[in-house]
Amino acid sequence: MRTFTASKQNIMSKRYTITTALPYTNGPIHIGHLAGVYVPADIYARYLRLTGNDVVLIGGSDEHGVPITIKAKNEGVTPQDIVDKYHAIIKKSFEDFGISFDNYSRTSASIHHKTASEFFKTLNEKGEFIEETTEQLYDAEANQFLADRFVTGTCPKCGNEEAYGDQCEKCGTSLNATDLINPKSTLTGNTPTLKETKHWFLPLNKHEDFLKKWILEGHKKDWKPNVYGQVKSWIDDGLRPRAVTRDLDWGIPVPAEGGEGKVLYVWFDAPIGYISSTIEWAEREGKDWEPYWKDENTKLIHFIGKDNIVFHCIIFPSMLKAEGSYILPENVPANEFLNLEGNKLSTSKNWAVWLPEYLEEFPDQQDVLRYVLTANAPETKDNDFTWKDFQARNNNELVAIFGNFINRVVVLTNKYYDGVVPEPNDFTDVDLETLAAVKAYPNVIASSIERYRFREAGQELMNLARLGNKYLADAEPWKVIKEDEARTKTIMYVALQIASALATLSEPFLPFTSKKLKSILKVSSSAVENSWNDISEKEVLLPANHQIGKAELLFSKIEDKTIQEQLDKLEASKKANEAANKTIEPQKDVITFEDFTKLDIRVGTILEAEKMPKTKKLLVLKVDTGIDTRTIVSGIAESFSPEEVVGKKVTVLVNLAPRKLRGVESQGMILMTETPEGKLVFVNPDDNDSVKPGLQIS
Ligand code: MF3
Ligand code: ZN
Repeated sequence: MRTFTASKQNIMSKRYTITTALPYTNGPIHIGHLAGVYVPADIYARYLRLTGNDVVLIGGSDEHGVPITIKAKNEGVTPQDIVDKYHAIIKKSFEDFGISFDNYSRTSASIHHKTASEFFKTLNEKGEFIEETTEQLYDAEANQFLADRFVTGTCPKCGNEEAYGDQCEKCGTSLNATDLINPKSTLTGNTPTLKETKHWFLPLNKHEDFLKKWILEGHKKDWKPNVYGQVKSWIDDGLRPRAVTRDLDWGIPVPAEGGEGKVLYVWFDAPIGYISSTIEWAEREGKDWEPYWKDENTKLIHFIGKDNIVFHCIIFPSMLKAEGSYILPENVPANEFLNLEGNKLSTSKNWAVWLPEYLEEFPDQQDVLRYVLTANAPETKDNDFTWKDFQARNNNELVAIFGNFINRVVVLTNKYYDGVVPEPNDFTDVDLETLAAVKAYPNVIASSIERYRFREAGQELMNLARLGNKYLADAEPWKVIKEDEARTKTIMYVALQIASALATLSEPFLPFTSKKLKSILKVSSSAVENSWNDISEKEVLLPANHQIGKAELLFSKIEDKTIQEQLDKLEASKKANEAANKTIEPQKDVITFEDFTKLDIRVGTILEAEKMPKTKKLLVLKVDTGIDTRTIVSGIAESFSPEEVVGKKVTVLVNLAPRKLRGVESQGMILMTETPEGKLVFVNPDDNDSVKPGLQIS
């Protein structure tokens, strides 16, 4: 037996402030962001709106921080150019993907500068910071202090040699730049020196008792184990003061005496972005923002990925607590990571499925990706996205179950009754059980959503479609119609009730499909459009005599060819990475000029070429060396056909001791190089008529 706790709660409307991690504006959104943060947050927000709650779903771009300044420098543009470009791309792709933000802002907006600046001032005036002049890492050549991504070194905790100055991505530990062993500047590669500078620190240690009580005691049961565990290990390690300012010129100026030339640390300003985005929304909508952040009855929920846990569970709450007038998050349902085809997603390695590309290559198929990412959500452990699974979930679930059921119902209703919902006759036990089962779904799905189990919720939705599909397949109205018209009407009536329930209950997960289905059933914005709770409460979901529309396909089959194209694209990324990473060999030991002059390198012309029998790699060449015509065996057959090398001028080492290859004596060596893609090419003497065989290379 399942127990349902959701139904009673739904009746009372509540206020929810739902935030989504603000993405850095140094690249587009990919499936990892979507699966970890935006899809679950959107399902949650849409569900809460449908059940009559007062919801604000907050998003925005995180535009400060070191990676953005580094990218700008590399591309020879300003940080503002970078953030303008990606903010526009990110915002548009979220809209097109149907993430139902009530507001999508950005941290370079003036409202944000103002809000973050005031927040800092309040804490500063309340004496919540420690001001301290300490020695920080400094790169004298770049004339810059090094923190965060400007410095790498060995993690003192796990030994990872590529830890950053703010965080080790391997063990998740959050670091201070001065914690790194063997630090190196990412600007110049230099070993930094130490130089004094003043900064403002948030004494996290001061908030330790409160954090212990609030999270370790208060949220042991309702927070996800992965989140609770990380927080606990942090607190158990002991909290230390953390700098909230930086010596940088990109960010929000420190609004305090002695703050000249310094900005707020990106992780200090970014979460305040949730507040500024709410203020921007409230001003536009003519609402009061404060209850959304200050009323004890408001539920504040942060959707984030696991790398953001410490910031949302320890640092930001300590800031909010120190300020004093804010509520704290009710829950932080952080997800683990999504991998792609067995490898970690990576922006720099272009190992990703990018949202803007998906939207272009799979037009009108937002719901397919939403469904697959929900079905594979990395809720309790890292998970893998594969294109084969994407295809299978589409073809075997969305098309074969959901789409097939709806299509049959709509086509048959049109065929038998010109699209008018028939009056039912006597219900059988199966009919009644089926109708009762449908009524249970809103609570089943709600219970999963309210416990942040979105995969389970999505599968329950599909189970409702399965129920419909099975009902029709068992009842076989297409056979019954031949002998029992009255019974057929009842069957079709029951099936139409299920279709109507699907139209409503699919909305949080498959919003585009839900909209299309409501329009096919002609229920949009009418008395027969059902709310979430109507599905369990109303006797009739789609009344007899209601006219529905014509059938339209909700989903379509994805062919192998389409999947292969995506796999080929990933393969190309892999190749390009390998090429880029191909290490340049270190220089060999120094030789004297005399050593060099021992080599007799000359221009030669290939006169004849044929494949060495029974080998893959070898060509047997006749080469005019200017001295003689000789045989050279060369391992180039995988890169060249015999025909294409005949007549080519090449560089030949002529005084190499002869040696036998497969019984043929090779009298010299053709000089070659290999491209990063693995293709051999000749080291060509300029193809110029006056370059004649026999000329020495020196
Ligand atoms: N930009 C950060 C990231 O992508 C997330 C910032 S969340 C916020 O990891 F709370 F700071 F806004
Ligand atoms: Zn580490």
